[in-house]
Amino acid sequence: MKRGSCSKTILTALAMLLVGSPCTYAQSSRLWVVTGDNVAAAAQRSLASRQSVADDLVVPTFQVINRMSVADIAERDLDNFSNWMHSACPHCGGFTVHASREAALKEVDNPAYKPGFRYLAPLPETLDQQSTVSRALDRVKGDKILSTITMLQGFGTRHFQTHKGQEAAEFVRREWASLGQERPDFTVALLSHDWVQNSVIGTIRGASRPNEVVVIGAHIDSINSRNKENAKENAPGADDDASGVAVVTEALRVLMETGFKPQRTIQFMAYSAEEVGLLGSANIADSYATESKEGPQVIAVLQFDMTGFIPSRDARDIYLVNDYTSPELNGFLTKLLKEYNHSGAHAITHGETKCGYACSDHASWTRNGIRAAFPFEAPLGGSNPHIHTSEDVVSKLDATKAARFAKLAIEFLIETTKGVDGRESYRN
Ligand code: BES
Ligand code: ZN
Repeated sequence: MKRGSCSKTILTALAMLLVGSPCTYAQSSRLWVVTGDNVAAAAQRSLASRQSVADDLVVPTFQVINRMSVADIAERDLDNFSNWMHSACPHCGGFTVHASREAALKEVDNPAYKPGFRYLAPLPETLDQQSTVSRALDRVKGDKILSTITMLQGFGTRHFQTHKGQEAAEFVRREWASLGQERPDFTVALLSHDWVQNSVIGTIRGASRPNEVVVIGAHIDSINSRNKENAKENAPGADDDASGVAVVTEALRVLMETGFKPQRTIQFMAYSAEEVGLLGSANIADSYATESKEGPQVIAVLQFDMTGFIPSRDARDIYLVNDYTSPELNGFLTKLLKEYNHSGAHAITHGETKCGYACSDHASWTRNGIRAAFPFEAPLGGSNPHIHTSEDVVSKLDATKAARFAKLAIEFLIETTKGVDGRESYRN
């Protein structure tokens, strides 16, 4: 029997164990998990081979609906279930937990996940910012990105429940504030949650359409999940996701250096508590979705999570994740790459991949009917194998690789906000 309601629950089992869930359940309750469609097959294989990670875990029987797997599970089995997912289906790390079958089916049936879903404001039809983009791309510096990653890895951990994690958020706030210090249209805020670490939001106010917002973001937290006792320690998180925060920081740095003034508002976000169920971004995206019609409207969101590792096979530069993202926005990014990165010094090759589940903060926006995309470092299975361990360090990353993500971010921001550049010192 369930106590309380939890229709928008997107917490993973881990999140529920660590921070508690806003919904409360009776001890004997059953919960509903929603995960990728490949999990159903892994569960079948486990059942066939009688494999289980704990004697008392009954591997659930999944139903596949709309390319997602749904099953009910005893609340006390959630921890074992999470372990089973990691061993039986190594890339199936994420799942969402819901208080009832109805709530789970609502997630599965979310109209925003379906082809043909229509968003409110349109994306620009034409790419016409060639000179502004080209001036900005020339200024992107891979070594700046690596030095931000080095600073962030230096905190030792950025776990969302630690003071080091909060110090890292404050560091990002200071960095961004200093990059925008000469601009009266730029502000930075810390956003508090029900846990120690804040999210960080930097805002360039749009000159003519301030209520229309374009977002680029990454997650500031890290985790060491190799050792359960040790999730808060030795979590340098260089690729996952200091590399994303550093890309967002570099995009901000370059736009400030070129004196770019957008027509629409741009927000730069460093989300807290991604690693435990996209919690920080869920707070933020949910709050935008519930704002009034006259309030700010988010036009599009890019997520940067793991940008610096060069995969050994099929090493194209950027892979657009095609699940839990907007096909229309992926199409727009493809147009940008064709227009601005087909050849020459800023050439970028690209492909497509999928996560199979709501694997990063883009999903918090997608769930709320807001266009989001997730340009990623590798195809499925080829990404950095060191994430979530003490070995996720900057020495394993590549500056040129990460710089390409900053270039894509900058093109996206300039074309979606169609601003003007031209600070005095920049012209000289
Ligand atoms: N950066 C990862 C997501 C990722 C890892 C994407 C490898 C593609 C390849 C992210 O920080 C993460 O670990 N996400 C969790 C899910 C989240 C809902 C807790 C995961 O993948 O287990
Ligand atoms: Zn990550």
